[in-house]
Amino acid sequence: MLELGVLVSGSGSNLQAILDAVAEGRLDAHVRVVVSNKPDVLAIERAARAGVPTVVVPHREFSTREAFDQKLVDVLTRAGVEHVVLAGFMRVLTPVFLRAFAGKVINIHPSLLPAFPGVRAQAQALERGVKVTGCTVHFVDEGVDTGPIIAQRAVPVLDGDTVETLTQRILEQEHVLMVEALSRVSAGLT
Ligand code: GRF
Repeated sequence: MLELGVLVSGSGSNLQAILDAVAEGRLDAHVRVVVSNKPDVLAIERAARAGVPTVVVPHREFSTREAFDQKLVDVLTRAGVEHVVLAGFMRVLTPVFLRAFAGKVINIHPSLLPAFPGVRAQAQALERGVKVTGCTVHFVDEGVDTGPIIAQRAVPVLDGDTVETLTQRILEQEHVLMVEALSRVSAGLT
């Protein structure tokens, strides 16, 4: 059983995919806490609706990234979290965080890594003119989108795609991939 903490910053549709899979018995996990760096985001509402404890840690209230990360570590540790999922969490984590949860932090990224790391992955794919892109779930190391890959899904780029249409097509596959990847971690297949 995975003891999960999920970090979010926005709409939380990947969080919802996790919550639904747990509720339906498709994923052997327990979401112990959802932590957001922003108040009033849909992700927090989704967690509350599922009866999962939520904590808001506004990054602007901390003078350094390290102080913010230490607060996250404290919140997650106190909640009994063993694995951390970054589900649309828009802050880069420092070694303070990554060393506390070494090898236990999982991220989802909207491209087939190592292609198009960093921000605007879908726009990068359109600009480069690739015909296939996708999404990746990987363990987080100290680089940006560089850690060991757990699972990937391919998504076609279609004529006439915009950032919005491509983002939506990838997001649908992210929801499937997230559950598939966490199931692999839960089963010890990584
Ligand atoms: C996803 O595209 C994810 O790959 C990226 O941020 C987005 C989060 O979407 N890291 P949501 O908050 O899960 O709906």
